[in-house]
Amino acid sequence: MKRIPALKPLSMEHHLSLSLAVKAMRTARGNDTAAKQALCARIVEEYPTRWRPHFDAEERCLFGLYAELDPELERLYAQLTDEHDRFDAWVEAMKQGDCSVLEAFGELLQSHTRLEERRLFERLAGMMSASEMRVLERCLEGHGEAAKTF
Ligand SMILES: [Fe+2]
Ligand SMILES: [Fe+2]
Repeated sequence: MKRIPALKPLSMEHHLSLSLAVKAMRTARGNDTAAKQALCARIVEEYPTRWRPHFDAEERCLFGLYAELDPELERLYAQLTDEHDRFDAWVEAMKQGDCSVLEAFGELLQSHTRLEERRLFERLAGMMSASEMRVLERCLEGHGEAAKTF
């Protein structure tokens, strides 16, 4: 499997998003109301400094690459951007005290992250030139650092 080293910072953060997704689904399906509230509060707190910046970096640095040449990529970008917006809405609901979206949040976070790693990154790996990778690397600078301190 061909990998793009420039995408490593995002992949590091994807390890975290996958573990958060599993935790959200597990907690949401359990009976511990306090644990659900605590996890929702944590998500609300971390979202603006960790997950929105991750989504912003994807939208700014990746989404759009080869979209005009590849309809499959164009569809993927539209779907993934729409999913980012759904996370915004769910986190806003959590902020208002509605923790009932926790399970849906976890399920989508898992499928979203897998879609990026397995479909988007794979597809881009076969298309990007060395100079495009350098541009991407620069664009993603600073990402993945948070993953190290998590
Ligand atoms: Fe994403
Ligand atoms: Fe991502």
